[in-house]
Amino acid sequence: MYRLAPSLLSADFACLGEEVKNVIAAGADWIHFDVMDNHYVPNLTVGPLVCKALRPLTKAPIDVHLMAEPVDRLIEDFIEAGADFISFHPEASRHIDRSLSLIRDGGAKAGLAFNPATPLYLLDHVMERLDFVLLMSVNPGFGGQAFIPATLEKLAAARARLSQYAQKSGRQLLLEVDGGVKADNIAEIARAGADTFVAGSAVFGAGLGSDPHRYDTVIARLRAELDKVRT
Ligand code: DX5
Ligand code: ZN
Repeated sequence: MYRLAPSLLSADFACLGEEVKNVIAAGADWIHFDVMDNHYVPNLTVGPLVCKALRPLTKAPIDVHLMAEPVDRLIEDFIEAGADFISFHPEASRHIDRSLSLIRDGGAKAGLAFNPATPLYLLDHVMERLDFVLLMSVNPGFGGQAFIPATLEKLAAARARLSQYAQKSGRQLLLEVDGGVKADNIAEIARAGADTFVAGSAVFGAGLGSDPHRYDTVIARLRAELDKVRT
C-alpha cells in the first residue's frame, strides 16, 4: 500500500481550504503540512492556527512536518490543532525520547525526520517510540528542489532496518520520503523502499491551469507509476 501526501507548501495560500478539499477529492491520501520557523530552516510558513482552521475540511490525516526548534511546545499545539502524524528533526530536540513520547501521549503518530546528512543510527534507541520515519531527499526549507540521488541508498538501508524491526516486534513502521518526488522518479523511490510519498511542486505546481479538478490528472499519473512497482 502506497500513500500520497501532497505538501501544502506549493499550494495557493490565498485559498488553502479549497486546495485541501480539491487535492483530497482528487485522490490524495494525506495532507503534508510543513512548519518552518526561520530558525531551524531559513524559511517561515504556518503554525497550529492554520492547521486548526483546515482540520474540519477533511477527514484525511494531516501529517505535520516540524522544521522548527524547539519542538515540544509545538507538538502540544499541533495535537490540539488536530494533527494525526507529527514528525520532527532529531537536531531540533534536546530530548528526542521525550519529544516522541509527547506526540504519542497526545494520541498522534510519531515520526523522526532525517536530513540528507543525518545518520540513520539515530533510530537505534527509539524504534519502540516511532510510528514512521521520514527521510528528506532534499535539504529542508524549500519546495521545488531536485531529489538527491544518494537518498535511494539511504532508503534501502532504512527499509532494511524497518523490516528487521518488524520481524522482531511485529510492528510495521511507515517509511516516508520528502523532497523532489515527481512522476518520473516515484517508481524508483518506491523500489528503494519508500511507502509514503510527499509531493509539493509535483502536485500543486503542475501548471495545469485553474480547473479545480486538475489534481486528478497529476495524482492519477503518480499512482500509475506506483502501480508499475507492484506488478
Ligand atoms: C521541504 C519540505 C517539503 C516540500 C517538498 O523542506 O519539507 O515537504 O514541500 O516540496 P517538493 O515536493 O516540491 O520538493
Ligand atoms: Zn515536508
